Amino acid sequence: MRDVKLGILISGRGSNMTAIIEAIEAGQLDASVAVVISNKPDAAGLKVAQSYGLMTIGIDPKDFASKDDYEQQIVRVLTAQQVDVVVLAGYMKILGQPVLAAYPNRVINIHPSLLPDFKGLHAQRQALEAGRAEAGCTVHYVVPEVDSGAIIQQALVPVLSDDTEETLSQRILVEEHKLYPAALASVIAQVKEEQK
Ligand code: GRF
Repeated sequence: MRDVKLGILISGRGSNMTAIIEAIEAGQLDASVAVVISNKPDAAGLKVAQSYGLMTIGIDPKDFASKDDYEQQIVRVLTAQQVDVVVLAGYMKILGQPVLAAYPNRVINIHPSLLPDFKGLHAQRQALEAGRAEAGCTVHYVVPEVDSGAIIQQALVPVLSDDTEETLSQRILVEEHKLYPAALASVIAQVKEEQK
């Protein structure tokens, strides 16, 4: 049986990507990273991925006539690298039909709230403004509606009385780095089962 290949999509620093790479290197995840793609060719996370010897590609939407054309290029790269599971890790664009159709039920994302609460941007700020006692993060399957796919795993983070958006985001991020590899492990196990 061949190993499960991940294609990671990022837009920024890639700390969740790094947590996944580290989990693979520690032998905690039975998978490999086939390629890291960013819509921002200067994303800091691409350099981090390169430092682990991984293949990286910047694909700039501006170089394509339409969003569909841009995503079809992503699909070409993913399929050329025989990617099984697409992992969004701080990928700040809404993923459209080309990638979702090529990878049905095989695209996952992490979001810094306890979904279905606080979808979209500034989820941590939304939780604070709503006066919640608990915040957290969610790994879920990606569907066309933003942050709305089936939940795979969640982690709770208590909101402290003196929390700011920054302090809460930082504590949630610590949990994201544990949750994403753990949730990914269950997806990988499922893919392996189907490959049998
Ligand atoms: C994380 O908070 C993640 O939940 C959200 O975007 C942020 C990405 O951070 N989707 P990083 O690039 O993984 O450090």
